[in-house]
Amino acid sequence: MRILITAGPTREYLDDVRYLSNASSGRMGYALAEAALAAGHEVVLVTGPVNLSPPVGCEVHSVETTEDLLTVCDRLFPGCDGVIATAAVCDYRPRERFPGKLAKTGVSLELELVETADVLAALGQQKGSRWIVGFALESDEYAHVNALRKLREKNCDVIVLNRPTAIGSANNSVELIDPAGRTVAQFSGSKTDVAVELVGWIGRELRVES
Ligand code: CTP
Repeated sequence: MRILITAGPTREYLDDVRYLSNASSGRMGYALAEAALAAGHEVVLVTGPVNLSPPVGCEVHSVETTEDLLTVCDRLFPGCDGVIATAAVCDYRPRERFPGKLAKTGVSLELELVETADVLAALGQQKGSRWIVGFALESDEYAHVNALRKLREKNCDVIVLNRPTAIGSANNSVELIDPAGRTVAQFSGSKTDVAVELVGWIGRELRVES
């Protein structure tokens, strides 16, 4: 299969030198890219800024903002069989991006934030016969319910529930939830091990007819 993988954080700029972002390392997405290549798939990696080298053999597209991620994924998704969306997308951006570097004025500064595009939901709307694997990062006791809501909103075939402790860590512990709300698999260990398990599961369960 030809698999689109989104990885890493996005950035939203306040001025030319300051931005909002998050602590995503990109490790889960890069581990998935490596595992998918090793399993014989073609990989198209769309990556936010991270300190990792992409695995040899994948097609790499670097992005910075959520809008970049949307534009690139919109263009590439139709040529792929499915998408695994691990990107930790910055959900808000400053309403205005100031040119240059904002100088201090001696008084407090109010920042108005507006929502960015939901990239995976946009891909979900043009899904056709392709499959979609989303990730849900959930911190509270309604994790399962929230993950299922995201699966439905984004038209996913399965959603991978993980916790904020995964951010920046070498390990992960995930639960795969299907559209009926069933837990269909659970994997934990290093992100490399989890990636191999997840790619194997996708290859068995989401295989497209060619
Ligand atoms: N995602 C996306 N575009 C966004 C936000 C999220 O493509 N603007 C994708 C993520 O890559 C992930 C899934 O949607 O696969 C869920 O992301 P998550 O951050 O858990 O949820 P959000 O939809 O951002 O919802 P909330 O922040 O309210 O939890």
